[in-house]
Amino acid sequence: MKITPVKKIQGRVTLPGDKSISHRIALLSAIAEGVSEVSNFATSLDCHSTLHCLQTMGVEFQLSKNLLVIKGTGKNLAEPEQTLDAGNSGSTMRMLSGILAGQPFLTEITGDDSLRRRPMKRIAIPLRQMGAEIEMVSDNFAPLKIRGGNLQAIDYHMPVASAQVKTCLLLAGLYAEGMTSVTEPTPTRNHTEVMLAEFGADIRKDGSTISISGGKTLHPLQYRVPGDISSAAFLIAAALILPGSEIVIESVGLNPTRRAFIDVLQRFGASIEVVNLSHYHSEPVADLKVSYSRMKSDSKTALLDGELIANLIDEIPILALLGSQIDGGLVIRSASELRVKESDRIKSVVDGLRLMGAEVEEFSDGLSVPGPQNLKAASIDSANDHRIAMTFSIAALAATGETEILGSEIVDVSFPSFFETLSALVKA
Ligand code: S3P
Repeated sequence: MKITPVKKIQGRVTLPGDKSISHRIALLSAIAEGVSEVSNFATSLDCHSTLHCLQTMGVEFQLSKNLLVIKGTGKNLAEPEQTLDAGNSGSTMRMLSGILAGQPFLTEITGDDSLRRRPMKRIAIPLRQMGAEIEMVSDNFAPLKIRGGNLQAIDYHMPVASAQVKTCLLLAGLYAEGMTSVTEPTPTRNHTEVMLAEFGADIRKDGSTISISGGKTLHPLQYRVPGDISSAAFLIAAALILPGSEIVIESVGLNPTRRAFIDVLQRFGASIEVVNLSHYHSEPVADLKVSYSRMKSDSKTALLDGELIANLIDEIPILALLGSQIDGGLVIRSASELRVKESDRIKSVVDGLRLMGAEVEEFSDGLSVPGPQNLKAASIDSANDHRIAMTFSIAALAATGETEILGSEIVDVSFPSFFETLSALVKA
């Protein structure tokens, strides 16, 4: 993709359904008893990987125009005849493994080159404690071979803050004898626990511990998925840095564990107005009115670290770019998890910003970027990472010259209509 600078963006858009919520609604509907109907299901390739794996295990569904009608099989899935393919999706592999650990047969699950380099021991350790047998390459990497069944509840304190690991264990907990408890080191996105309660599971939260009873039957749901805030982040960023921009993004999911990106930017003076607040089930949804803003940080606000990081983990690449445009810049720490995402996102962001002529310092757990800085066109490798491709596409809009994004088609992993949506908003 070749991208030249634009003056501003303007207009209204509605975005595809949230990727995190779509994975979860697909998984829970598949093991519920009866037919669930889900509107605004994500268009993301990752969510299609989840559907495809479920289909390989006998789950029937129809998907047309983002309306998913899915026939739950109850908790017992069919033994697959082939290896499951999670594609690029860490969420699919880690969360589905919780269900696979509850099945009394052997399943093999693999993924693409990027996914086969990502750590899986974080789910294998607790699943083995529950009684599943798991084999992995070098005891950490996919393909995973999981022989499940006869799980026992455990009380697990997660060493890493990960919503995927939490979800995996809560799903395994549905199959276990007794009450499984998962304690988080810092709060992560809570879609799973909120949704499990809606499906009729016996689940409770006490401080940082979430507990679920095994053996409960899930009932089907009629559900609408909110627009994806992590996709919205890229459009918000474009509107904030291009003078004269004004956009409205409709029906965006604003779960408190997902909206830190917006809260942080508002602290720097970003004009992001939250209007028409409502709920889709327990998930808050609103329209966002975003206009160009001169943003400023100071020595206190420029540092983003600690607990905050888990709630904006997917937005850090685009935040780092915004840092280069904020008067006072940004420092991001406590984010070493970024090293094991679809690419090493600290390295990908630092490399890309430097290629565009920006000054940036790399730390093992983050980066520091002064601002404001001028960006110049460059040839940027997406590193086969959707969020890196989108981050530098937005950077290109504000740079001088023509930027090339190599491997830009990877945006399909989370936001297939990204380039069309952006083009429709561009005003010369
Ligand atoms: C996700 C959790 C996060 C996030 C990922 C989606 C989820 O990963 O980065 O894009 O839907 O639960 P971790 O749980 O590994 O931090």
